[in-house]
Amino acid sequence: MALGLLAAAALGGAYLGSKYSVKNDLIQLRAVGTALMKDKAKATPDRVFLIFEGRSYTFRQIELASNRLAHWLLAQNVKPKDIICIMLQNHPTFYIAMWAIMKIGAIPSFINTNLQEDALLHCLTVSNTKIFLFDPMYENQVATIAEKARASGTNIYAYGEATEYDGEYTNSLALALTPKVLSAYPDNDTSESLIRGIGITDVALLIYTSGTTGLPKAAIVQHARLNGIIWGSSVLSGMTKDDTSYCCLPLYHSSAVYMATHITLNVGGTLVLARKFSVTRFWDDIYNNNVTIFFYIGELCRYLMNRDPHPYENKHKLHTCFGNGMPPEIWNQFRARFGVKNICEFYGATEGPGGTFNLNKNEHSAGAVGYYGPLIRTFIRSDIKIIKIDPIKEEPIRDKNGFCIECNYDEPGEMIIGMQAQGGRARFDGYYKNNNATSKKIIQNALKKGDVYFRTGDLLKMNKDGMIYFLDRLGDTFRWHSENVATTEVSQVVARYPSVAETNVYGVKVPNHVGRAGMVSLILRPNTQLDFADFYQHLSKHLPKYAVPIFIRFVPSMNITGTFKQQKTTFRDQGIDKVPENEQPIYWLKDKTYVPFTVEDYDQIAAGKHKL
Ligand SMILES: *[C@@H]1O[C@H](CO)[C@@H](O)[C@H](O)[C@H]1NC(C)=O
Ligand SMILES: *[C@@H]1O[C@H](CO)[C@@H](O)[C@H](O)[C@H]1NC(C)=O
Ligand SMILES: *[C@@H]1O[C@H](CO)[C@@H](O)[C@H](O)[C@H]1NC(C)=O
Ligand SMILES: *[C@@H]1O[C@H](CO)[C@@H](O)[C@H](O)[C@H]1NC(C)=O
Repeated sequence: MALGLLAAAALGGAYLGSKYSVKNDLIQLRAVGTALMKDKAKATPDRVFLIFEGRSYTFRQIELASNRLAHWLLAQNVKPKDIICIMLQNHPTFYIAMWAIMKIGAIPSFINTNLQEDALLHCLTVSNTKIFLFDPMYENQVATIAEKARASGTNIYAYGEATEYDGEYTNSLALALTPKVLSAYPDNDTSESLIRGIGITDVALLIYTSGTTGLPKAAIVQHARLNGIIWGSSVLSGMTKDDTSYCCLPLYHSSAVYMATHITLNVGGTLVLARKFSVTRFWDDIYNNNVTIFFYIGELCRYLMNRDPHPYENKHKLHTCFGNGMPPEIWNQFRARFGVKNICEFYGATEGPGGTFNLNKNEHSAGAVGYYGPLIRTFIRSDIKIIKIDPIKEEPIRDKNGFCIECNYDEPGEMIIGMQAQGGRARFDGYYKNNNATSKKIIQNALKKGDVYFRTGDLLKMNKDGMIYFLDRLGDTFRWHSENVATTEVSQVVARYPSVAETNVYGVKVPNHVGRAGMVSLILRPNTQLDFADFYQHLSKHLPKYAVPIFIRFVPSMNITGTFKQQKTTFRDQGIDKVPENEQPIYWLKDKTYVPFTVEDYDQIAAGKHKL
């Protein structure tokens, strides 16, 4: 059993995806996501599952609270397979709501808590949600869409921290599910029959990802995939019931909800949940809670490296960091400085059919997101390819026979991942009610007639030892603060501003930062000037915080001779440090307005003294 996988893990890296020679039925017996919490609550009711701000929660406590909410949902006539949207913060109420929804066979759909206006409304309407639960702290954002959401049939309720603990929360926006309201409902378990019919090809979760068309796309996660991820990651992380994990990533993200939460649950460990990442509190949290596994995204590691030494940074029990996007150049320094033994870096999209994994214990494979050496290729039939891409069109290059061309070693190209048919784990379940977006992610007849691959949309390269390195995102999105920013969404908002004539949005590299910062090149209408503070107000009202451009550049023309794409590529490559003299100064976001960006500002950023 699991020979390929274990051998791969032992080698220090793995391809996490379709064909670890595991019997399919092991993974596919049950809709694990739905059953896991119920099982644990029965088997170990008094075990502490969650620690939040110093308070412990046993399985029994979470189970009882989610039972009540589940009975309330049933009383609202929620049926198995209905979609319920939740916009909740990192707080025990997130788990209570998630399991309440899952245990009655309904489908939780996690809303990014930065959203408001059109993007938020879109998330509710695209999933046809009957019920939307939001934490009172997001009331102002929800107020921007409440009326329209109701008009399209969504019932809105406040449920979250204030409603759970002080019971005092009321407002005019929505009925609040206070403890008093919920006390009318029983806290015994809901009937097994509600989930009995749920199979592995049913939808387990919807997670929204930024689309190239602007608005978020709801990525479908079927139980088969969730099972595969939970099981595979549990093994690869090496986590056991004696481990304590630390999650400060937003729970609406797949890393937090699939990985941190479900791995911990699966192995029976304890999860320490933080409201959000705090560089000042981090080592205290790790030390005080005896945390052994930290779930990261790349920028968090960078922030930790940039801060002054902390008295606990070498006195903790942390042995493993598990996550995605640690900047390649800091791995060895990170391990040396903080004395962490293992860096488990994975690469994979929320919705992708597979990914890669590098369990790194020494300098040898530092910086790689995966290892795909000859031994692994013997155990696991090859499913990952890196193919040549036209740098301007950012589309695969086809040869004279119509097939894609695989890259040579060390040559950057797009990673594509082979897909399995319905019911397999290496699947792409598509986007909910969005066939156009779904078909854009699929490439057929890539390397031979009849094959089907998932397009990751990412540029990677592999060296001759089989180490895989992440380089950049392709296409019309870029990553910033671990969110995907869709350039078209930003462009549309910028273009609505009255004095803007033409605009071009892209992401630029900034020293000491992970991902790309948003930059907008502008041409203004004749005889107008930009009121920077007002422009910022406009942007921040209509865009999530992470999508508001950091830099503005005024350009004389959008270069009509070249294509729009060529233009974008040129601007993107010029970034913030190679902008021609006659287009200076560029401006940057500071204190809710834009001010000239100086050489001194650049130096501060480069020296790690200014965090964007
Ligand atoms: C839960 O309790 C209610 C009454 O409080 C009862 O009607 C119902 O059958 C119970 N449900 C289960 C699954 O035992
Ligand atoms: C952490 O471990 C120490 C001893 O190893 C123990 O005394 C302490 O109670 C533990 N703290 C928590 C929060 O588990
Ligand atoms: C999907 O693509 C087709 C053909 O390109 C187009 O006509 C249709 O409007 C698109 N649908 C959506 C929802 O974008
Ligand atoms: C404008 O387009 C031309 C032709 O494609 C190209 O050579 C030139 O570098 C472009 N200029 C800018 C500023 O992008």
